[in-house]
Amino acid sequence: MIRTNLFETHKDDIHGSSSVLDVGCGALHDLMCFEDSEIRLLQGIDMAVDQSRLYSTYFNVAAKAGRTPLKKAHFVNRYRIQQADLQQYNFGGELHNFIICRNVLHFFPDSEKYVLINRMHMGLEQGGLLYLQVNHSDNVNIIRSEYAVDRGDNVFENKVNPSQVFFLANYEHFVTEINTQFAVLDRYTSKTDDSIILTIRK
Ligand SMILES: C[S@@+](CC[C@H](N)C(=O)[O-])C[C@H]1O[C@@H](n2cnc3c(N)ncnc32)[C@H](O)[C@@H]1O
Repeated sequence: MIRTNLFETHKDDIHGSSSVLDVGCGALHDLMCFEDSEIRLLQGIDMAVDQSRLYSTYFNVAAKAGRTPLKKAHFVNRYRIQQADLQQYNFGGELHNFIICRNVLHFFPDSEKYVLINRMHMGLEQGGLLYLQVNHSDNVNIIRSEYAVDRGDNVFENKVNPSQVFFLANYEHFVTEINTQFAVLDRYTSKTDDSIILTIRK
């Protein structure tokens, strides 16, 4: 999968920001692009964070991506990665100028997806930007063939781990729903990773 560098594509949006928050940050692929920015604090939340292996995971991913990894002391100063379940996390606690949520919302059914988007929106400063990238159901051939059993209604079960369920977004419904609730700045589909991308300005 070719991944767009969100710092390169959103340089103007983050100009002057002091922190960026990646919701469901995984192996820090997106956050590490912001090392090239002046943003002081790179923050992430994920329920699967293993603090004892965080730096080595980062180091390996950065090296594989062709980056020069930060030294551990610099990493510790620049990154703040919390282990938390997004359903319990308090997004209103600290406000951010740029929030990313990429390829995470398919773990939530529609009812919870929109609640979570509302809560992330609460974590934005006035004028801040929310970047949402969601797998959509118009193009699920890869997911269907490799990982998932189709349970209908855009619900797929992980073949290897049946307790993990994917709720793919219905493109039209998703865009309509978001448009009724938020000021959508931009929307497009990504051909490289089969998803809908929406940016919301607060
Ligand atoms: C497909 S990965 C995407 C990771 C990253 N955003 C990226 O694009 O590389 C989805 C991530 O969402 C996290 N996740 C899923 N449900 C979560 C929840 N309820 N609370 C916190 N993290 C969650 C998973 O642990 C996983 O790291």
